[in-house]
Amino acid sequence: MPHKFLLIGKSGLLGSSFAKALNHKELVALDSSQLDITNWENVVRVVHEVKPDVIINCAGYNQVDAAEAVLELGKCNAVNVLGPENLAKAAQANDAILVQFSSDYVFDGRNVEGYNEESTQFGPESNYAKSKLAGEKAVIANANKFYIIRLSWLFGLGGQNFVTTMLKIVDEKANLTVVDDQFGKPTFTVDAVAATLGLIADGAEFGNYHLVNEGVTSWYDFAKKIFALSAKNASVSAVSSDKFQRPAKRPTNSALLNTKRPTLRHWESALAEYLNSLS
Ligand SMILES: NC(=O)c1ccc[n+]([C@@H]2O[C@H](COP(=O)([O-])OP(=O)(O)OC[C@H]3O[C@@H](n4cnc5c(N)ncnc54)[C@H](OP(=O)(O)O)[C@@H]3O)[C@@H](O)[C@H]2O)c1
Repeated sequence: MPHKFLLIGKSGLLGSSFAKALNHKELVALDSSQLDITNWENVVRVVHEVKPDVIINCAGYNQVDAAEAVLELGKCNAVNVLGPENLAKAAQANDAILVQFSSDYVFDGRNVEGYNEESTQFGPESNYAKSKLAGEKAVIANANKFYIIRLSWLFGLGGQNFVTTMLKIVDEKANLTVVDDQFGKPTFTVDAVAATLGLIADGAEFGNYHLVNEGVTSWYDFAKKIFALSAKNASVSAVSSDKFQRPAKRPTNSALLNTKRPTLRHWESALAEYLNSLS
């Protein structure tokens, strides 16, 4: 049973949920000012000093649209590819388990059935998505003891997310338009964290996992549910993605299928709990 955890990216959306869930364990939790995962010497020194059983990497470059700019691409690849590679090498050298998070965006988005953990229907369409897939490959190439956990459409305390964005703009705009032709599984950080810690505690086989809440929806229906549950009287119109151009292309259908671990609850029930915690 692993007992010492090194948490990286502790201040982010996912990292702050891990910090809360692990506060009764032996934990060293760091932000980017304390550990820059793109700096090999920094990574080696910290991992060697801490001697963790498990390294949980919540650091990431997640500005999907900004990453399409040539000037940002180097930073995106440094954090999402070189960083996991450094951590995988350091984990391997210290016999630690590495937990790396990846994204539904690594898939091609054309499979309406969704994607299981072993699917090879990759087709990343944005620089961010390409960097996440390359990060997965860097971990597989450099470590034996790893969990690659793909997540999607995260919401939770500790950072800006689709829910907080919707709740903010509904007070600023009379009419909202939200795309209704992209489908995925909204996932509460609290549930993803609990499922990840369960996986580690069980000593599950190393490999790929999809730890997402159940239920597939569109961004439009997700937005409508947010307003319904928070009793906001919002005027929301559906729009197709070709009418809502953004720099980075998103997959049409990125539903992740969890076929290896206990099912997480439906996203609507998780959303209700999250909204309650905001009020
Ligand atoms: N958000 C989603 O919807 C979503 C969906 C699928 C997968 N994921 C994956 O889940 C993971 C966590 O995402 P998130 O949404 O929690 O991200 P986030 O809120 O943007 O947090 C990312 C964290 O990474 C840290 N970081 C950035 N560069 C770093 C560096 N060079 N060294 C060390 N730390 C660095 C940041 O620290 P500072 O703030 O101190 O710079 C920040 O705390 C990522 O792997 C992401 O790809 C997220």
